[in-house]
Amino acid sequence: MTVESVVEVSDLKVYFPGRRSSGQAKSLVRAVDGVSFAIAKGEILALVGESGCGKSTIAAAIMRLVAPTAGRIASGGVDLATVNGSALRRARRRFQMIFQDPFGSLDPRQTVYETVVEPLVIHGVPAEERRTRVLEALEFAQLLPPERLAQRYPHELSGGQRQRVAIAAAVVLRPDLVVADEPVSMLDVSARAGILSLMVDLRDRLGISYLFITHDLSVAWVLADRIAVVYLGRIVEIGSAAELVAAPRHPYTQALLEVTRGDGHRTLPGETPSAAAIPTGCRFHPRCPKYRLLNEPSQCREVDPVLTETATTLVGHQSACHFVEENQ
Ligand SMILES: Nc1ncnc2c1ncn2[C@@H]1O[C@H](COP(=O)(O)OP(=O)(O)OP(=O)(O)O)[C@@H](O)[C@H]1O
Ligand SMILES: [Mg+2]
Repeated sequence: MTVESVVEVSDLKVYFPGRRSSGQAKSLVRAVDGVSFAIAKGEILALVGESGCGKSTIAAAIMRLVAPTAGRIASGGVDLATVNGSALRRARRRFQMIFQDPFGSLDPRQTVYETVVEPLVIHGVPAEERRTRVLEALEFAQLLPPERLAQRYPHELSGGQRQRVAIAAAVVLRPDLVVADEPVSMLDVSARAGILSLMVDLRDRLGISYLFITHDLSVAWVLADRIAVVYLGRIVEIGSAAELVAAPRHPYTQALLEVTRGDGHRTLPGETPSAAAIPTGCRFHPRCPKYRLLNEPSQCREVDPVLTETATTLVGHQSACHFVEENQ
């Protein structure tokens, strides 16, 4: 039996024209460079990786805020990578997004009611239904009592409450998928836990799926069913959150975990690479401790590894490393 997917992304690529440096040809910025994954109904998939690895660009492509260069984004019988017009409008109703900054994402001149009713107006929900739907969404987001909170302006709310308003506006149309790009990274620790448990609660109550973007592996571990680790525009490891954290197989995931478990002051060794100059072979090899340990095998420099399962991991746990069987 196959589980129903809300979205299936295959070999997604998003390239941007790069800046021209003196005397040289323009280098292409390969922000997303062949990414595939599916999200099941009610599933939370986390995308984790360093700054600049392409997480937000993957999100933007799924929301069609940027046009994909190549690949498919299949959902509800259409390909969101290429669909236009009324079919795109219908698809937009099923996918909603929450952004990082709860201060910048709300219009300071609009009341909470005006913010949350907006998607209903845009998508033509009849006027007589709107008030009930808005109050219900505020209740879902635990903005209580809804009638009173509806009259507030953003400056009267805390960061956590503002993010709840953004969540209410995202779920008011009962979407299939919510794409959340670093939704808790600007909140203080106490507000963070509340927002994360609210998201899980909405998944349970409404069956919403999430694509949850974070640079913090520990947040992904707490929240997600599955984690995809992204490095330079590619998924280098994907698997159940529990197994990926307990038994990471890719040297990059292993390094990220060490940083997460450390004192918080350590960063990954080596320079953060550029999407305008992706290394040949395995794109991680210039920073890979395993590559050095194995005396720099030519395979790592020459052959781009594909995601594969190993004999000792659960089905669906895949890593893109030539030496994955040895990375235990
Ligand atoms: N519109 C654009 N034009 C050119 N390059 C872009 C554009 N948007 C993103 N990039 C580049 O694409 C790469 C991926 O950027 P992206 O914002 O997706 O990373 P990210 O993983 O979300 O990073 P962060 O954790 O800092 O938010 C980076 O090299 C970035 O500079
Ligand atoms: Mg980003």
